[in-house]
Amino acid sequence: MFDPTHIRPLFPALSETDEQGQPLVFFDGPGGTQVLQSVIDAMSDYLVRRNANVHAPFLTSRRTDETLTAAHQALADFLNAPSPEEIVFGPNMTTLTFALSRALGRLWQPGDEVIVTRLDHDANVAPWLALQERGIVVRWWDFDPTDCTLPLAQLDELLSPRTRLVAVGGASNAVGTVNPIPAIVERAHAVGAWVFVDAVHLAPHFPMDVQALGCDFLACSAYKFYGPHVGVLWGRYELLDRIPAYKVRPAEDHPPGKWMTGTQNHEGLAGTTAAIAYLAWLGETYGQAYAGRFPQASGRRLALKTGLTVIQEYERELFRYMLDGLRSIPGLTLYGITDPARLHERAPTAALRLARLSPQELSARLAAHGIAAYAGHFYAVNVIERLGLSEQGGVLRVGLSHYNTRDEVDRLLELLDDWGF
Ligand SMILES: Cc1ncc(COP(=O)(O)O)c(C=O)c1O
Repeated sequence: MFDPTHIRPLFPALSETDEQGQPLVFFDGPGGTQVLQSVIDAMSDYLVRRNANVHAPFLTSRRTDETLTAAHQALADFLNAPSPEEIVFGPNMTTLTFALSRALGRLWQPGDEVIVTRLDHDANVAPWLALQERGIVVRWWDFDPTDCTLPLAQLDELLSPRTRLVAVGGASNAVGTVNPIPAIVERAHAVGAWVFVDAVHLAPHFPMDVQALGCDFLACSAYKFYGPHVGVLWGRYELLDRIPAYKVRPAEDHPPGKWMTGTQNHEGLAGTTAAIAYLAWLGETYGQAYAGRFPQASGRRLALKTGLTVIQEYERELFRYMLDGLRSIPGLTLYGITDPARLHERAPTAALRLARLSPQELSARLAAHGIAAYAGHFYAVNVIERLGLSEQGGVLRVGLSHYNTRDEVDRLLELLDDWGF
């Protein structure tokens, strides 16, 4: 059985204390998770033993090439990408998404359409809005504010033969909704449109599988799943090959090189591979209960699928426990899916408000108790606006990660209970 107390020592930040000696509690995973010692070691090992630029015959350059190759393969296994050449690295998801949208703008004609949602982080909205400069028409897919889900019937109305792409999140970083990507893909593909998935908030909490999702592009960020600040873009090889990327002339003409502008964060890539190794180790160590469940997968891919399933199940039960507690706090409003029977439709990320305190005041009070939780809109500006909370400071976000414990949740619940009515 997975028990977070077994893996917590692997994350040095988890034993830090604040100025008063209080242990730190990290409910800020949606903004960035804490990092493994093995990731830190891999990054420092890169800088000591492998530091160079690519493609030269000397030792450190050969080791650098190996570092990149390993990172591409690690992410291909993580995402179940058919080829490591479909994995593009960059500084973060936002930069990679702008690079893709800018390049797609070269391909499309004025009057072509893109669908964006009000449930998304702005990193999956602004890059598509920027195409309006080229005459691309942006259509908005609204969510149902009662449970923060995207109605598929509305997508059917928005799709047309002019739709070139649907840009949708895998999971909302504000309210946790997990979107039905295969159903969205089926509808988009029926009119010949591509689907871009922002999986930044999905990838830390669920096994990822681009082939099962059926999408055409997907982006995520390693710093949300225990790694360093590295962004990842996956795309179907033939699309990445066909789309005219903005690149310097001597850079490679084919994927992934044509999309990876400039020199990469090599130490970050070493750390990313180490984060993936940890997730696979989790599967090998705690995944006995899922033996035989994934007959199609083998090797590290199987270990990763199992590892993320371990995380998913643990986080869901911890979230269920937190939800029970939150629902009994007077004056507390929770946003998104709150029905305990529908927890599989959401990530373990709670958006809440207390009647008596602003989210900012709440965040500051929690910080004084050593608890990290963000307040505001977290760049999911349309979500907070649609919920009518832009002028009220948005929401407090409590994001659970697999290293969080029931004791930590109890600490939070006690404080919120004190500050309720
Ligand atoms: C859902 C979601 N999408 C996109 C982003 C932006 O990712 P990055 O910081 O890698 O650009 C974030 C970051 O918080 C996010 O939560």
